[in-house]
Amino acid sequence: MKENWVCVAAAQDVREGATLQGRLGDEPVCLYRIGGRIYATHDRCTHGRASLADGTVRGEEIECALHKGRFHVPSGKAVGLPCVRDVRTYSVKVENDAVWLQVDGAR
Ligand code: FES
Repeated sequence: MKENWVCVAAAQDVREGATLQGRLGDEPVCLYRIGGRIYATHDRCTHGRASLADGTVRGEEIECALHKGRFHVPSGKAVGLPCVRDVRTYSVKVENDAVWLQVDGAR
């Protein structure tokens, strides 16, 4: 089966400990660099209508700006109330200073 990767950002624009909003087709996604490695989740908090890109990175977690719910970025697991549903994550690869997400690689 052919893998389908989409370029969503320049790797240099994804700063350590910060977030960067991007788009994967119609889906808003949020990019993170944690410990030098780039991760991607869906950008919509599963608790409400907040953008995770507006949140605060704390270690390997993203804290939602609206009600302070938290997700573990590498796994997408909801780890802090009021968030109880996991957020979608994406397979990421970096090539030629570009960040690519796998379209069918959503987990
Ligand atoms: Fe994110 Fe409520 S909208 S914690």
